[in-house]
Amino acid sequence: MAAVGTAGREPDPTESPTGEWYRHFGTVDAPGNSECYAEWSVGIAADPELIRRIDQWPYNKRQPLLMLAAARFLGARISPYPEFRAFLDARWGDVSRTVLSRATQTNEAGRCATLLPSLAKAAASGNGRPLALIEVGASAGLALYPDRYGYAYDAGASVVRLSPAGATPGSYPVLGCTVTGPAPLPAELPQVVWRAGIDLNPLDVRNPEDVAWLEALIWPEQDFRRERLRRAIAIARSAPPLLVSGDLNDQLIALAARAPSDATLVVFHSAVMAYLDAESRDRFRATMSRLTAERGCHWLSNEGHTVIVQADGSSVVPEMDEARLRGRFLLLHNGAPVAITGPHGQSLDWL
Ligand SMILES: C[S@@+](CC[C@H](N)C(=O)[O-])C[C@H]1O[C@@H](n2cnc3c(N)ncnc32)[C@H](O)[C@@H]1O
Repeated sequence: MAAVGTAGREPDPTESPTGEWYRHFGTVDAPGNSECYAEWSVGIAADPELIRRIDQWPYNKRQPLLMLAAARFLGARISPYPEFRAFLDARWGDVSRTVLSRATQTNEAGRCATLLPSLAKAAASGNGRPLALIEVGASAGLALYPDRYGYAYDAGASVVRLSPAGATPGSYPVLGCTVTGPAPLPAELPQVVWRAGIDLNPLDVRNPEDVAWLEALIWPEQDFRRERLRRAIAIARSAPPLLVSGDLNDQLIALAARAPSDATLVVFHSAVMAYLDAESRDRFRATMSRLTAERGCHWLSNEGHTVIVQADGSSVVPEMDEARLRGRFLLLHNGAPVAITGPHGQSLDWL
């Protein structure tokens, strides 16, 4: 749970932590991204009966985004809070079942825009060999198609555009990204010969229920992200990725052994480490150290503030803290910080 600010009010000892969670989401996370979610979350926070119902779910199921996405999945439309509340009353059993059976598995193809320069660098270091990609925590695997998307990097004075060779404009999403600093933007897209992912619960782009869930995870007003998702799904459907079901720590070594040996292997992850406890993160780091040393693989980590603190309590970037990240991600290439990135791939600030 994010730190909850109580600035300006006396803390109320009888107040539910869940209520504070929703209030924080509605006043800090949602404004600017979704006015609808902001209003609904603030409404829920002030609604003791709903908080009582939410508190009957296991702790990790109480998170605002999961509950709101479940309601949207079931058909809740953008509306004033009283209408939303009536929807919840009418469909509470279904909301509960959806929350308990689903998880927040937002799959954001836009993140390829912030990964692409590092992928191109990995390809360049491989003497012309194509890339083999493994994404851990892949959801539906939409970030495994960086070679099939278009890009528009806005560096202020100029825009660098890249498009997949031979593809018809309009058939692929164009990922817009603002750039600062000396980002090594590639002149062309790297070639990918093999792509695979691992997820506790892989979502299937051919399954309409899974696709509907992916759409529900996008915040209501963010139509451009829904459109991007649909185009990325169409591409993934034409050649679905190999997705292995299981824990990334249990599956990674075996999956890496299946990658073609004549390709440059890149293992990457975005927005996944927050789901692992400290021990699992340490185990993963040890596996990656082994794979980079023994297999010569590249490791791209694109994560929020959970990547900052190392096992020994030191920081991978001494000058970096949550205040500097401000909700953005830190991109590391083989453990070295290279950029601060927008969480949905919207910005790339090369260090
Ligand atoms: C927020 S989603 C991000 C998906 C994708 N990386 C992206 O950037 O669009 C996090 C994903 O990590 C998966 N995940 C969490 N813990 C995992 C673990 N221990 N092993 C494998 N997958 C895991 C979740 O199931 C979920 O699909």
